Amino acid sequence: MQAAQAMGPLSAPPCTVHITWKDLLLTASLLIFWNSPTTAQVTIEAQPTNISEGNDVLLLVHNLPQNPAAYIWYKGQIMDLHHYITAYTIDTERIIFGPAYSGRERVYSNASLLIQSVNQKDAGSYTVKIIKRGDGTEGVTGHFTLYVETPKPSINSSNLNPREAMETVTLSCDPDTQNASYLWWINGQILPISPRLQLSENNRTLILFGVTKRTAGPYECEMKSPVSSSRSDPVTLNPVYGPDVPSILSPFTYYYTGENIHLYCFADSNPPAEYSWKINGKFLQSGQELFIPHITTKHSGLYGCSARNSVTGSERSTSKMIKVLTPPGVGPACVEKEPWWPVLNSAKSSCQLK
Ligand SMILES: *[C@@H]1O[C@H](CO)[C@@H](O)[C@H](O)[C@H]1NC(C)=O
Ligand SMILES: *[C@@H]1O[C@H](CO)[C@@H](O)[C@H](O)[C@H]1NC(C)=O
Ligand SMILES: *[C@@H]1O[C@H](CO)[C@@H](O)[C@H](O)[C@H]1NC(C)=O
Ligand SMILES: *[C@@H]1O[C@H](CO)[C@@H](O)[C@H](O)[C@H]1NC(C)=O
Ligand SMILES: *[C@@H]1O[C@H](CO)[C@@H](O)[C@H](O)[C@H]1NC(C)=O
Repeated sequence: MQAAQAMGPLSAPPCTVHITWKDLLLTASLLIFWNSPTTAQVTIEAQPTNISEGNDVLLLVHNLPQNPAAYIWYKGQIMDLHHYITAYTIDTERIIFGPAYSGRERVYSNASLLIQSVNQKDAGSYTVKIIKRGDGTEGVTGHFTLYVETPKPSINSSNLNPREAMETVTLSCDPDTQNASYLWWINGQILPISPRLQLSENNRTLILFGVTKRTAGPYECEMKSPVSSSRSDPVTLNPVYGPDVPSILSPFTYYYTGENIHLYCFADSNPPAEYSWKINGKFLQSGQELFIPHITTKHSGLYGCSARNSVTGSERSTSKMIKVLTPPGVGPACVEKEPWWPVLNSAKSSCQLK
């Protein structure tokens, strides 16, 4: 089927158009003649061969025909005024500039074209037309495709500190380079298929619908062109989360007078939580640890710890009941070395003298 379609135009002309086989043969021989290696082809060579942005490149023209009249350089393969960069006329040694001239091209008397400070827009094909002497219509052309190496890409994130699982983050692989292809990695692995990930049409941008600790990265992107490829530095997102309900780490509920209370509070949070302590609803101190030496029965009460995330302002708390007891067989009178104890008077009756 496809083969038959491909054959169509070839088999059609002899019956539909008045072209004779002689005409066809002549055309074919001309084509062979033009492509024949015995006819010195105009070739173009770039110097240097690897071109990176910002550098100059010289497009050297080889196998110039004898006695040329002028050279014309075009951007692309279409030789019209719109694509006309510059021309050189040999007799008058004149340089002419066309609409496609960027201000950075210079044609030499040997037809070579210098392009200064190359950028990605300069990539693509170039055509040189060499006009021969005579009626000015006869000429030869040469083509060249200029590849410009891609610079090292970088990842630009719309938000490096998204709220966990809530905010959408857009990562883009910069710069946006024409005809380059982009590839992403998370944690050194190719991206998994997930409804929480979406790539743009050319893969340059990656949209993350909610970032968790597990999907925080590191992310890397690679930019590939026909001549080069390079990978970005890794970027790790720092999702903001928490605090969870804090826990008060202390195995004890009961203490004896004279002991030390040492409580520690923890709640998972990013950034780390700010902690504060309360006793019976009254602010005691801030900080993750609470240490009270030489406690008395007055230190009994409901100990509360609050954890607050400074970015989100979210705060959660927990509490723990603590009871301070007088040790059995030891009355307050026995600790009368410290008569300032407020409990002393009220508890006097229970003091057992030895
Ligand atoms: C040019 O680039 C190719 C492919 O990236 C590389 O193999 C080659 O070594 C480079 N040549 C120079 C002179 O840098
Ligand atoms: C043509 O002219 C340029 C500039 O003077 C020179 O660098 C180059 O080597 C010359 N040769 C060819 C083959 O283009
Ligand atoms: C990009 O590709 C198109 C079609 O393949 C080509 O015409 C164009 O010159 C290329 N552009 C660059 C900058 O390489
Ligand atoms: C990063 O992306 C933002 C938009 O998401 C844009 O405004 C900014 O210019 C970009 N930065 C760079 C260095 O490309
Ligand atoms: C985009 O990336 C995926 C793999 O993540 C690949 O399969 C696909 O071909 C890429 N598309 C383009 C246009 O490069």
